[in-house]
Amino acid sequence: MAGPTPQPGILDIAVYVGGESTVAGIANPARLASNENPLGPSPHAMEAYARVAAELHRYPDGGATALRAAIGTHYGLDPARIVCGAGSDEIFYLLGVGYAGVGDEVLYSAHGFLAYPIVARSVGAVPIQVPETDLRTDVDAMLAAVTARTRIIFLANPNNPTGSYLNSDEIGRLLAGVPVDTIVVLDAAYADYVDREDYSAGHRWVDDYPNVVVTHTFSKIYALGAARVGWAYCPPAIADVLNRIRQPFNMNAPGMEAAIAALADTEHFARSKAHNDKWRPWLAEKLEGFGLKVHPSVANFLLVSMSPHDAEEARLFIKARGVLVRQMGSYGLPDCLRITIGTEDELAQLIAALDAFLGRNEPRGGA
Ligand SMILES: Cc1ncc(COP(=O)(O)O)c(C=O)c1O
Repeated sequence: MAGPTPQPGILDIAVYVGGESTVAGIANPARLASNENPLGPSPHAMEAYARVAAELHRYPDGGATALRAAIGTHYGLDPARIVCGAGSDEIFYLLGVGYAGVGDEVLYSAHGFLAYPIVARSVGAVPIQVPETDLRTDVDAMLAAVTARTRIIFLANPNNPTGSYLNSDEIGRLLAGVPVDTIVVLDAAYADYVDREDYSAGHRWVDDYPNVVVTHTFSKIYALGAARVGWAYCPPAIADVLNRIRQPFNMNAPGMEAAIAALADTEHFARSKAHNDKWRPWLAEKLEGFGLKVHPSVANFLLVSMSPHDAEEARLFIKARGVLVRQMGSYGLPDCLRITIGTEDELAQLIAALDAFLGRNEPRGGA
């Protein structure tokens, strides 16, 4: 008996495998595989989360009213146009369900975030990988890939796992060339780490275009990945669609309270940003000192080419020494590893482990 048949596309989905978090026999590995904030959450966020424990029998506010108000005040945005999701991942799903279907096309850049093709296939749409140039989204290639079937373009800016970004002129050019019936999602998960004057998360384009959505997450600099809090700033008509299809209680109460407290803790935010600003260049220099190619990053991680060494061999070697980094085969970059900017101690462990690997490892083919 064959049993029930899933919808078109579902069985083509490669199950998402997140960064590793455990090593057998090692109690506290250095966790540099998931782009988490190594300083942990704001103490105020932890208190707020715990305070809700006595109210766990109550349903949360389905409208996320207080959280949307706090985000609106913080970013100077209209709360009515903010939609919250269980992580920005949920927002991507809602956009997929709302706007794409069987036979439609969803575009993303070649080394874009793996959640995008999963969303496309979940709704029966065809994910189209658009070639990049030098590990950056190529605006011309993206525009050339748009067809009458293109419903959504997902663009992480900065991008994970490359760490590269598009400047405002480049995004402006993309938006000007995309038909207004195609949604452009600017995924700003790592925006808080960027210091470039020519960069913008893009809220103003949401005001200018009926088809531009900007998504954010509390999982990265706000260090609340476990709480699952993300949000989107949308044109009114898109906010309306997402509100119709989202689960009535898609946001959990402790997560929302933690997010409100995290947003208010500007000191913790500044500490987290300063930590990244200090240790990202430090790590890049150390890796370059090993003769490795480090791709320029504006985020809280570095993509490093292990060539001429074997990236998987290196990853397993340092894992055995208690350091976890992300393999990049699933992103089509099998020669690379992605390394999160961890604590000072974690980075020291990483460098010691890599030093041991490179010291005993002749480059492939000899040198
Ligand atoms: C580019 C990008 N967007 C979105 C997310 C997901 O964020 P969330 O935890 O809010 O679902 C990630 C997580 O790694 C990411 O790298």
